[in-house]
Amino acid sequence: MIKVVICGASGRMGQTLGRMVHEAPDMELVGGINLKPSTFFGAEIVEAKDADALLKRTGADVVIDFTVASAVVENVRVAAQNNCALIVGTTGISPDQRAEMEKAILNHVPSVITTNFSIGVAIFQQLVRESARLLKDYDIEVIEAHHRNKLDAPSGTAKTLIEIIEGEAGSREKLYGREGMKKRENEIGVHVIRGGDIVGDHKVMYSKNFETIELSHRAYDRSVFASGAVQAARWVVGKKPGIYGMNDVLGLK
Ligand SMILES: NC(=O)c1ccc[n+]([C@@H]2O[C@H](COP(=O)([O-])OP(=O)(O)OC[C@H]3O[C@@H](n4cnc5c(N)ncnc54)[C@H](O)[C@@H]3O)[C@@H](O)[C@H]2O)c1
Repeated sequence: MIKVVICGASGRMGQTLGRMVHEAPDMELVGGINLKPSTFFGAEIVEAKDADALLKRTGADVVIDFTVASAVVENVRVAAQNNCALIVGTTGISPDQRAEMEKAILNHVPSVITTNFSIGVAIFQQLVRESARLLKDYDIEVIEAHHRNKLDAPSGTAKTLIEIIEGEAGSREKLYGREGMKKRENEIGVHVIRGGDIVGDHKVMYSKNFETIELSHRAYDRSVFASGAVQAARWVVGKKPGIYGMNDVLGLK
């Protein structure tokens, strides 16, 4: 049995993951970490300051973190010190926070870190890579929509899509929203919508020569992210130390 601890256990993703791990025949939900003690699916949730004791007491194999950027570095550090493999889905991480995480992980434990654990998004990203290579000279716009409680903007997935596009089409200025009088140049337009219960929509648009090509992905339920994270947790245990992505988990190249 793979012993799993979830950081952010009381959150939206933490609860979805807790249920999924609890129901997985090959996994044991041994605990959760959040800001206040509680329980979920028969397991205890401890405060962040008691994370080290929880990991030692339970002998967790893997820690899954869906929290906030300000918490993730410390969670990763404690998990790596306890030789736990890591699954990190938290977004909005700054370059400095990313560097701190890498220091804790590299040469110590295996991890999968991605801004989107959906299997459909992994395929969508491949299609965006291919289309950006073919449509370099088109006008490119990236549009994303999420629920009203999402704090970071643009979404981690939108930032990853922009990185993929720029990897193929070259680095460009990003223009976040448009207002007033300004000629369109070679920028990538980035547009963010926040409202209601939208789970996660992403669209990339290429326009030129009286035509538009649109690639889009829509998540209808956050269980798509949770099931990808659970699949990644199964895959990562026993791998060599390092940082892997969903392409490695899914065998995509
Ligand atoms: N990679 C993906 O596929 C994916 C998918 C969905 C959401 N996300 C990201 O996951 C994160 C969480 O999303 P959510 O919708 O569940 O948010 P949420 O606000 O519902 O849950 C976050 C939880 O983390 C808790 N928390 C804060 N500080 C903590 C700490 N120090 N230790 C432990 N827990 C702490 C909060 O109290 C909260 O319960 C966000 O960054 C979001 O963008 C990623």
